[in-house]
Amino acid sequence: MKILAFETSCDDTSIAIFEDERLLAMNTDSQIKIHNKTWWVVPEVAAREHANVIFDVLTQTLEDANTKLEDIDYIGVTTNPGLLPSLLTGTTVASTISTVLQTKIIPINHIEAHIFANFLERKESEIEFPLVCLTVSGGHNDMYSMKSMWDLEKIWSSWDDAWGEAFDKVAKMMGLWYPGGPIVSQLSEEYEKTSPTTLLLSGEGSKKKSLFPRVWLVKKEHNFSFSGLKSAVKREVDKRIAEKWELSDLDKREISYEFETAVVEVLAYKLVQAAKQKWVETVMLAGWVSANNRLKDQIETLCNKEWLEFIYPKKLVYCMDNAAMVGINTYYRVKYWEFEDKIWVVKL
Ligand code: KG4
Ligand code: ZN
Repeated sequence: MKILAFETSCDDTSIAIFEDERLLAMNTDSQIKIHNKTWWVVPEVAAREHANVIFDVLTQTLEDANTKLEDIDYIGVTTNPGLLPSLLTGTTVASTISTVLQTKIIPINHIEAHIFANFLERKESEIEFPLVCLTVSGGHNDMYSMKSMWDLEKIWSSWDDAWGEAFDKVAKMMGLWYPGGPIVSQLSEEYEKTSPTTLLLSGEGSKKKSLFPRVWLVKKEHNFSFSGLKSAVKREVDKRIAEKWELSDLDKREISYEFETAVVEVLAYKLVQAAKQKWVETVMLAGWVSANNRLKDQIETLCNKEWLEFIYPKKLVYCMDNAAMVGINTYYRVKYWEFEDKIWVVKL
């Protein structure tokens, strides 16, 4: 069975081809450089870019997989959530191919696909259910209790921003660029490596009080909120700018580290606590933020203490938005779901 998968929910035009669960080829055109200038993804600009490149990405992927469109048995395409103009580009191209070639098309949920990215590097039998999964991305921040591949119950959500939004906003406060998550996390890692010397030099000793509060809300519950923490970062940034006119590189590293630590400590704790409350033995991470090393390290440390298995996408490209996760999600949907005979068009 050959599968053609499309992902255009935000600012990556990604297309993949699968032979069953085996990825044959994938190509992704990222628009990050374009959105850098405006500090956020302008939906119409993103859609125009998708339309400009999607056929080149498709041609290249077919060539890399040594496959013709006529060989495709199923098409999988992201239909929600995402930026509407971006989604429309992918779904229109996918539905057109599907209608012309009478190939079955399957709508894919972007968050579910991020979760399925965990099946790209493992066999189905290697992931044991029930488990608890934390999805952390630009627009979404949720925790699910999963009894099986298809039985998901949302048990936790952010009350306001998602992790990615919060990181992007904190980066903007410090005059860094978009997307802010990777750069804030890089600065934080740099600070972590150099901080013992720095702290010693500044005469503060090794024990330093945290700059920002830990937002527990109700500690035993799984909800989370970023707005208070963001305001605390804003106050600290404003205070330092008022004192010295601008933030030094060390200020940026320290604020990034302190902010990231405040988020990571609470999220990792709440994830592992949810696993214990649900009596599961596995915790899973999904979304681009699962590339964050300090989050993974913290979860790993807590999981080791509690004898829990910790699963996350290992390759960076599988954490980011990519069509491979859509393809593998489509494969398992075809394997386990019944579909009507004639579905040639997906609706948004
Ligand atoms: O999964 P994704 O593409 O978004 C949605 O599907 O909504 O995640 C994008 C977000 C961006 O906000 C970016 O700043 C953040 O993920 N991000 C990170 C890291 N890498 C990406 N945040 C923190 N640490 C990272 N290493
Ligand atoms: Zn995503």
